[in-house]
Amino acid sequence: MGNHTSHSTTTSKSGKQPQEKSGKSSMKSSQLMKLFEDQLKDIYWAEKALKKALPAMIKNASSSKLVDALKSHLTETEKQVTRLEQVFESIDKKASAKKCDAMDGLIKESEEIMESCEEGAMCDAGIISAGQKVEHYEIATYGTLRQFAETLGLTEAVSLLEATLKEEKAADRKLSELAMDAINLDAARAKA
Ligand SMILES: [Fe+2]
Repeated sequence: MGNHTSHSTTTSKSGKQPQEKSGKSSMKSSQLMKLFEDQLKDIYWAEKALKKALPAMIKNASSSKLVDALKSHLTETEKQVTRLEQVFESIDKKASAKKCDAMDGLIKESEEIMESCEEGAMCDAGIISAGQKVEHYEIATYGTLRQFAETLGLTEAVSLLEATLKEEKAADRKLSELAMDAINLDAARAKA
């Protein structure tokens, strides 16, 4: 009914006016969907790998504040794995993981740090730096995924991804606080 002023220019010979346009955009959105799924598999692998790696970081940490922060992030990480499974479910896909070389590398680096550091404040400082690199990787990935989900109109996925993104940002802030806390000062002292 009536005049679609904004789309009147695309009304064409075929008579199916928006079709041409949406043909192109649905091709684009299927490519975006593929990218979304790929990154989802990547972060699913990453979260599961982190779940396995965190206990060693907890074991090597000395400061009780750091131990608590890592323990609560382990609990969060377990929830985040479940949340990712819900994201897969929301797009009717079976949850599957694809090796994330970036997270694999970050975890390997954290293991190297823990192998070579002296027990105590120095080791804590190293664990915090490794943890923050992990958080920043996750923040970047979840930020992208949430944006893709928004563009694709996947409402449920948006809110699931948003919830995890908030947790990752909070975990990163917590680590920043701890780094500024006594830990780095102690590390400097231990060196002197
Ligand atoms: Fe996470």
